Amino acid sequence: MQDRTPRAEDLEPIERASVDELRAVQLDRLRWSLRHAWAHVPAYRKMFDEFQTHPDDLHDLSDLAKFPVTDKAVLRANYPFGMFAVPREQIARLHASSGTTGRPTVVGYTQDDLRTWARLMARSIRASGGRPGDRVHVAYGYGLFTGGLGAHYGAEELGCTVIPVSGGMTERQVMLIRDFEPDIIMVTPTYLLAIVDEMDKQGIDPRATSLQVGIFGAEPWTDELRTEIETRLDMHALDIYGLSEVMGPGVANECIETKDGLTLWEDHFYPEIIDPLTGEVLPDGETGELVLTSLTKQAMPVVRYRTRDLTRLLPGTARPMRRIAKITGRTDDMIILRGVNLFPTQIEELILRTPALAPHFQCVLTRDGRMDALRVLVERRSAADPAAAESAGRDLAAAVKNTIGVTVAVEVIEPDGVERSMGKMRRIVDQRR
Ligand code: DLL
Repeated sequence: MQDRTPRAEDLEPIERASVDELRAVQLDRLRWSLRHAWAHVPAYRKMFDEFQTHPDDLHDLSDLAKFPVTDKAVLRANYPFGMFAVPREQIARLHASSGTTGRPTVVGYTQDDLRTWARLMARSIRASGGRPGDRVHVAYGYGLFTGGLGAHYGAEELGCTVIPVSGGMTERQVMLIRDFEPDIIMVTPTYLLAIVDEMDKQGIDPRATSLQVGIFGAEPWTDELRTEIETRLDMHALDIYGLSEVMGPGVANECIETKDGLTLWEDHFYPEIIDPLTGEVLPDGETGELVLTSLTKQAMPVVRYRTRDLTRLLPGTARPMRRIAKITGRTDDMIILRGVNLFPTQIEELILRTPALAPHFQCVLTRDGRMDALRVLVERRSAADPAAAESAGRDLAAAVKNTIGVTVAVEVIEPDGVERSMGKMRRIVDQRR
């Protein structure tokens, strides 16, 4: 793999600042952001009043814990534009995240917000090893989803050549990779796997393509999958995190020189980790729910937004900003099976340690009387012999029992048996109703 560590002189000054300088910037910006939300969004003013807090109560960063948290329900209750803090004519763009039920969550951006987003995405691509002049194949969906356009404007901002492919038409994705020779691909990790399978089908060696870097996010994935992708494609695989409510992709990104979790761009977002049950703020290093406060957003500031994503805060390594560990999953995706908590990422880890099994799987939840049951549908690798794959399935069930402590049924199916996603993969199929 190419050495693609960015040169220190190419980083922004804040990426080379001291932690004290960073904290000072954060405090200034946090004061502004709380005041901005309080002054211009009636829903925040009401919540602050109910909590008997006021932006003037913030003296240092830890005082943020005195303010109320926000969640998707608050955004939904103010559908579509009630959370905006600027007059409607200053909104330059809308995006929306498709909820599984009912109304989407709508987010708005001013021209300045769009510039900030593009810069943070450019910073993320640079941290991933991207450079001006690189060709960037964007296979995140374009549209109301923030993935496609977020990646697009970030790559342009960095000075790259953008190939705006969007998701789907997998054969054509492969043709464009072969013919346009991109250096970088930005796509969900599960759709990348579908693209690689298609390369195999067409007899194209994935290791021989022009791709040097993949920037993968929008869904949880593991270090085991990183190893799989890096080996199968001979390219760097980096993790990118974000959510529409807070901006879109580019809230946090891994740095290629360390690949040790995602540096959270703390000059624009202030992170806290809370206990999802009690709401109590947890110390750095402890796992809980990530809560984010925007520091610079104009159109739609968010104060202590509960992301539902589970992770922990780690000290900075490649940058002064803190990192988040790879996301284990969303609180909503936690499977509770006979009292044991389980995430699909744990299953992914174990599957990837079983050579005859492919990383295409789904967790099917059923109910038998009053007992929940989990069936893991997993494909055998096309090169693996069916009998060996059957026995690997039994090994997987044993590994789940030994490491997670719960009994699951494993069904090994033929290659292509698990539905492919063009974007975020549906890992859990709930058949309990
Ligand atoms: O998925 C934004 C995005 C696009 C991020 C492209 C990265 C790349 P939403 O559709 O609002 O926005 O979904 C946000 O997706 O709360 C997480 O649960 C999940 N998610 C996003 N990135 C990661 C990641 C986009 N790197 C929700 N690892 C978030 C794990 C992720 N989960």
